[in-house]
Amino acid sequence: MASNDRKSRPIGIFDSGIGGLTVAKAIAEKLPNESIWYFGDSKRCPYGPRPLEETRGFVRQICSWLLEHDVKLIIIACNTATAAGLEMAQRVFDVPILGVVEPGARAAMRATRSRRVGVIATTATVESGAYESAIKRLDAGIKVFSAATPKFVDIVEESLHSKHSGGSGPLGALARLADDPEHIEIANGYLHPLKERNIDTLVMGCTHFPFLEPLISQVMGPEVQIISSATETANDVYETLERRGHLAKSRSDAFYRFATTADDLGDFEQVIKATFENSDFTLEGVGLDELEALTTK
Ligand code: DGL
Repeated sequence: MASNDRKSRPIGIFDSGIGGLTVAKAIAEKLPNESIWYFGDSKRCPYGPRPLEETRGFVRQICSWLLEHDVKLIIIACNTATAAGLEMAQRVFDVPILGVVEPGARAAMRATRSRRVGVIATTATVESGAYESAIKRLDAGIKVFSAATPKFVDIVEESLHSKHSGGSGPLGALARLADDPEHIEIANGYLHPLKERNIDTLVMGCTHFPFLEPLISQVMGPEVQIISSATETANDVYETLERRGHLAKSRSDAFYRFATTADDLGDFEQVIKATFENSDFTLEGVGLDELEALTTK
């Protein structure tokens, strides 16, 4: 394939649902010339409570789907799916595939002064030990304290289905949870044990959590830096494409396309609109039968 063709091909990004939109947004900001194909597997969300092997199968299906849509690089914008399937995907597929754990670990290593880092993530990510290994590979002296916070994923996904008062849509509704006593109590229950460890840096090791950053940072207090892997991942994408000479040349043909296994496209559309503000985009539904058929090809 001519290198020019490759440059104009889209970047593929996926997550179990809407969490990866936090990464897609950072990529759109850092690389405005690039087209994006985003896949949200909302029907099978959450991945966090599932065995890694099952999630690895989903990673294989969605990477195959994205490659059928001609992507030039894939970002697994889900920590759980990265922990479960990044290595497999890198072995099986022949485009560059990046995950979000390594960039998050790097950002935490750079941010910490006390070398005491907390990680909040899904149960599968915490049990995989992926963050702890990634952080310790960068600095073996950093002490890592991890906590599974699965309700945070549910809160974000449920925000899609609730009616939003106050006119600021689902993102405004999520930001307002920082003032809601019931949600403050849930966050305190999860985060207090980490505060007691005197961490100075907390990694949001799940791409859904940046939607809850106001709540999380309010509970952690100003002395703890809250880290998301989105910006660092966008830097990695830039470097990978630049090194290969595959950066898109101009913005004029760039497009944003979204696909989801969700039954209700309207809910998904609302969050894309809120996240990508004024951009034009298309959204389509994908059946699980279509994905499952790809595995047997
Ligand atoms: N956004 C996903 C992650 O980063 C997790 C959500 C889920 O449990 O599916 O791990």
